[in-house]
Amino acid sequence: MKIAIIGAGYVGLTTGACLAELGHEIICVDNNREKLDKLNRGKSPIFEPGLEELIVKNQAAGRLVFQSEIKPAVQQAEIIFICVNTPPKDDGRADLKYVEQVAREIAGIINGDYKVIVDKSTVPVKTAEKVKETIRRYGAGKTNFDVVSNPEFLKEGTAVIDTMAPDRIVIGVDSEKAKEKMLELYRPLIEKTKAPVKVVSVRSAELIKHGANTFLAAKISFANLIAQTCEEAGADALEVLEAIGLDERIGAQFLKPGIGFGGSCFPKDIAAYKKTLEILGIDNTLIHAIEKINQEAVLRFLRKIEKELWVLDGKLIGVLGLAFKPDTDDIRNSPALKIIESLKKDGAKIKAFDPQAMANAKKEIPEIEYAQNPYEAAAGSEALVICTDWREFKNLDLERIKKLMAAPTIFDGRNIFNPKEMEKLGFRYFGVGR
Ligand code: NAD
Ligand code: UGA
Repeated sequence: MKIAIIGAGYVGLTTGACLAELGHEIICVDNNREKLDKLNRGKSPIFEPGLEELIVKNQAAGRLVFQSEIKPAVQQAEIIFICVNTPPKDDGRADLKYVEQVAREIAGIINGDYKVIVDKSTVPVKTAEKVKETIRRYGAGKTNFDVVSNPEFLKEGTAVIDTMAPDRIVIGVDSEKAKEKMLELYRPLIEKTKAPVKVVSVRSAELIKHGANTFLAAKISFANLIAQTCEEAGADALEVLEAIGLDERIGAQFLKPGIGFGGSCFPKDIAAYKKTLEILGIDNTLIHAIEKINQEAVLRFLRKIEKELWVLDGKLIGVLGLAFKPDTDDIRNSPALKIIESLKKDGAKIKAFDPQAMANAKKEIPEIEYAQNPYEAAAGSEALVICTDWREFKNLDLERIKKLMAAPTIFDGRNIFNPKEMEKLGFRYFGVGR
């Protein structure tokens, strides 16, 4: 099928490359020139395992094209995906200006041939209805189209795997014709993976996305609440949560305590859902608590550092990990950045290392020092603060680290080491919840 994808970010690029891999013909449109130049040189603008290989392969096969002009892409496509960003406004509502802009542009282009317009961006319930209205308003009578909600569930760091082997495919439609088109689009994937397909109403599909992200964020905040309890009561949160997660009704995933969830999605999506509840007149205390515990996770960690190091002014602190999670170069809402900002405010000098996210971090916080590797970040430091659970940090030569540091103290915000072993090695070691 011929597909247009508007917005070549994490979601648009991964969707485009994976649909091309499944045999569809894809035109990805973006208004960011720099991104397009990179893509047209066969380079992925983001670090995402397996993505660049898929892009290059499908570009070479002529199934994947990147361009800035939306018109030819929309004209030739049967299905048009909206994959633009939906950032938070100051009050937590989702800012839908990019979605509206794309809807208006599509309205001016579609010309009578039937089109399915798919909202893949994460949006509040009833947004598809607004998209439909917008296209009607600005398309003067061109009404031969349907708007579908097809939320995306990929995780950064495993985006390609998540897309090629999804837990489920959710299709929110209110027309039989659109449903058939969407099933045709996903048929190769459904046949290959046997992924369950949920065909639901448009509003339900929109709510499935906000509901799923809120539930996952709630699990993490619950884990952090248990961690706080364990710290005060003298128990081990990892032992407690492992046993809790063995109950099949609860499950072990997303119960890792630490310095809280970051990224471009959970914080913004739960804030948007909180607003939806407010608008619908429903109590949003639960969401408020999820956010509060998440903020407290970072604050408690900082208090631990301050308590141990006492005066921070002038002290050199090594920071390992800047990305909001491993296997990505994304630093949007990264807890690491909040920690660095606070330590800097107290006068500490920071030397940071991240395997992939330093280029992005340098744009955001150019004033700190950056190391070439974890050992350089540790050298001469009075403490090492671990903010991201990159695999390579778990395999560090800890004897070497100890010798390099001015004082062997580690604050492990992701519990990647075992406290007893760290003590045996001669570190003063502080994890989360243990
Ligand atoms: P992103 O910022 O990485 O990408 C958005 C892209 O859209 C950018 O490249 C931007 O230049 C482009 N764009 C914006 N307006 C445009 C326009 N008018 N015309 C052409 N291009 C335009 O965002 P993302 O992380 O891919 O997220 C996109 C949406 O998907 C958001 O709603 C997000 O919540 C949701 N989502 C993201 C993830 C994730 O892991 N990142 C996962 C699931 C869902
Ligand atoms: C999340 C969801 O997991 C995806 O399903 C969803 O599609 C996406 O948001 C989205 O809507 O954009 P992502 O933000 O890429 O994906 O990454 P996660 O793996 O969910 O991690 C989010 C944050 O939670 C990270 O900061 C991570 O360190 C933290 N986390 C995760 C924990 O602190 N504990 C855990 O047990 C799991």
